[in-house]
Amino acid sequence: MIVTIDGPAGAGKSSIAHQVAARLGFEFLDTGAMYRAATLSVMRAQLDVGDPDGLAQHVRELEIRWENHRVFLGNEDVSEAIRSTEVTRSIRHLADVPAVRQQLSHLQRQIAAGRDIVTEGRDQGAEVFPDAHCKVFLTASPEERARRRQRQMADSGKYVSFEDVLAAQNQRDLEDRMRDVGRLRAAKDAVIVQSDGMSADEVLEAILQIVRKCQKNF
Ligand code: DC
Repeated sequence: MIVTIDGPAGAGKSSIAHQVAARLGFEFLDTGAMYRAATLSVMRAQLDVGDPDGLAQHVRELEIRWENHRVFLGNEDVSEAIRSTEVTRSIRHLADVPAVRQQLSHLQRQIAAGRDIVTEGRDQGAEVFPDAHCKVFLTASPEERARRRQRQMADSGKYVSFEDVLAAQNQRDLEDRMRDVGRLRAAKDAVIVQSDGMSADEVLEAILQIVRKCQKNF
């Protein structure tokens, strides 16, 4: 059974999807980490980000692996390196290239084949797994997401103003919503969870309830 959880940056998808998977005994796939790993590799190779064919060729030759909630480029665990601001800022160059998306989508389907899995990203329900039995679109208002993100950063010792967090997030939202292929959107058959004012535990319980309903019909 495949459970897709899509939504904008800062909606808390990753940590919720991870917990949903743990509670169900399912595998978990963070597809953003795959886009991040590909971007890190392109940055290291100093490729021209304005050359979509060159980017697609590079990604075709990459070995991106997802194991035990960690992402690898070949044998190197890049799970921390992919979280840098530079990587986050550069992702759109790859995420906008249809041939790159096609390859990463193919890899995502290979990973999910024959498994019970919770897969998290932007395009999982609408494009990569259109036949998934359970689709969730997890969102929150831009202000709520920026507030959470700012708190999270402050907790790890980084102070950034609310306005700056919100502006960077609005920019990413725009990029994620505007791309021609794989744009952020809720699948027609997704259940929308609008999490403003909900605690993390309440969001987890709401999504588990949705999944349990899907399991009954599976
Ligand atoms: O979820 P995240 O912040 O780690 O994702 C990073 C970026 O990767 C996001 O801004 C857009 C891209 N992405 C995508 O295009 N498709 C996905 N399925 C997952 C992420």
